Amino acid sequence: MCGIVAYIGDELAGPILFDTLKRLEYRGYDSAGVAIKSDEKIEVFKSVGRIADLEKVYTGLGCPGDCMGIGHTRWATHGKPSDKNAHPHTSGEIAIVHNGIIENYLDLRDLLMEMGYEFLSETDSEVLAHLIHFYYKGDLFEAVCKALERVEGSYAIAVLAASSPYLVCARKDSPLVLGKGENAIYVASDVPALLPYTKDVIRMRDGEISRVYADRVEMMDLAGMPQPIQMERITWDADAAERGGYPHFMLKEIHEQPRAIRETVAGRISEIDGDVRLDLGMSDEELEALERVVIIACGTSYHAGLLAKYLFARAAGLPVDVEVASEFQQLQVRPRTLLLGITQSGETADTLLALKKAKTCGLPSLAITNVVGSTVTELVGSTIYTRCGPEIGVAATKTFTAQLVALILLSIRLGRARGHLTPDQARKMLIELTRLPGLVQRVLEKRETLREIAETYAGAGCYFFIGRDYLYPISLEGALKMKEIAYIPSEGYAGGELKHGPLALITEKTPVVALATCGKKIQSNIKEVRARGADVIALATEGDPDIGKVASVVIELPETRPVFSAVLATVAVQLMAYYTANKLGLPIDKPRNLAKCVTVE
Ligand code: AGP
Repeated sequence: MCGIVAYIGDELAGPILFDTLKRLEYRGYDSAGVAIKSDEKIEVFKSVGRIADLEKVYTGLGCPGDCMGIGHTRWATHGKPSDKNAHPHTSGEIAIVHNGIIENYLDLRDLLMEMGYEFLSETDSEVLAHLIHFYYKGDLFEAVCKALERVEGSYAIAVLAASSPYLVCARKDSPLVLGKGENAIYVASDVPALLPYTKDVIRMRDGEISRVYADRVEMMDLAGMPQPIQMERITWDADAAERGGYPHFMLKEIHEQPRAIRETVAGRISEIDGDVRLDLGMSDEELEALERVVIIACGTSYHAGLLAKYLFARAAGLPVDVEVASEFQQLQVRPRTLLLGITQSGETADTLLALKKAKTCGLPSLAITNVVGSTVTELVGSTIYTRCGPEIGVAATKTFTAQLVALILLSIRLGRARGHLTPDQARKMLIELTRLPGLVQRVLEKRETLREIAETYAGAGCYFFIGRDYLYPISLEGALKMKEIAYIPSEGYAGGELKHGPLALITEKTPVVALATCGKKIQSNIKEVRARGADVIALATEGDPDIGKVASVVIELPETRPVFSAVLATVAVQLMAYYTANKLGLPIDKPRNLAKCVTVE
């Protein structure tokens, strides 16, 4: 996904822009560029490929007065990856970087062409540069306001003019954060890019536009009305956004799961009351009156939603519909429905749009997200935050297990409010929940065994993951991880479904990972695939007397309740996918064609 940075201050802009752009690489990109104001001129450098390629074409080091600039990593949406389509886009003395989609760009483009503007790129963003240029009569802020009034769609932008002493930033439906340094302001699409420079940040809100000087920010709405500025102190240190000694962010983040789970639970449980403290913005009476939950999510977050289907039914007597956000049509309006959006980034366009659509029915709504102040939090009534710190690897790991934990907490709260769980039943679940970080740690300690198995099968042309009950969503998640980072075609299947078709794919060349900690039925599925010659790697509960008789290899996971064993199995399949991709020498943290946060439909 595109990333934006900007800088204004006393230092040379170029090196700071490159450094902050590199810190946004995890969002995925195909080209990059910077525009730097130097001696009342703007110099633009662009390149397809990595930031390192851009640095090679950058010749502007060290110009006196070079202390203001903007930069961009582009993930192609309109127009293929090319130097021309890379940002910044310019028009006369104006340069802009943009993240988002200008929906009416074709109309604007026609209009601007009639006025004589020449378009050099195929992007929707270039219209913004020309439109701002059209309105620019010496007041950049006013010109940007006027231009944005004409624009339909989403944007986070940073704008530079050769004759303007300040930068302009604006946002609508796309994230933008300003960081306050010592006589310097740093701008980025995401907080981790700013952490080496400052921990004091201002998250711009939708509809805000700012005049950014080195020593101050003036925040306004598009009508020019001053807006309050909320400075936030980031408590993660810069190290939290670095790899911390691991070869990849993904491995680091897999190992951070005990802490992420502990922090997601912290302060939220009362063992004495046998209940959970969550601010859901709804009374117990309202929770009791609920008749169903509709969950909207994508990718890994969707898999978390699928687990909630089992969980909420059992713990709270609530039926759940789980919708893939991009396929969401229109909610059948049924009162007493709770809408739940799950999105680690809080910025996934498909999820946000589906939630917006669903919300028109006026239903109570909740979100589970990892990013404080992200767009999803503005859409819903209340938010349950997972507390994982930033997740940099494109493959979701710690945010997924923390989502599962947040869902377990929510199911207990719902179960208690609805009288479906007794305090004693809830207490037992909560006691087990507090053991979970230690159990996850024990799975992490099996990393060497998991590595050896993964490396043995790294040459497989196809993988299967099978599970039942709570482990069915985890089989989907295991297959997704194997696909996205190891590029091995993989299927996640409900064990019982194999015989309805996919069994035809099973041969002695198809390793099958059987998630076998929930019940004995999976053993007959293991026998089915073994009979077709497949090797079966079973993830089973410690001391299971039967599994060794049917599986080729057994990895023992600590004994716990079935729903918690889903978290343990997740950690094991994450490690398997990681070590497979590592053996294959693939770019684990930035898999091809993928972005960490998908802010386009
Ligand atoms: C997970 O490994 C994927 N990278 C992807 O499926 C992700 O879960 C999906 O894009 C949803 O993201 P979100 O949770 O930020 O909404």
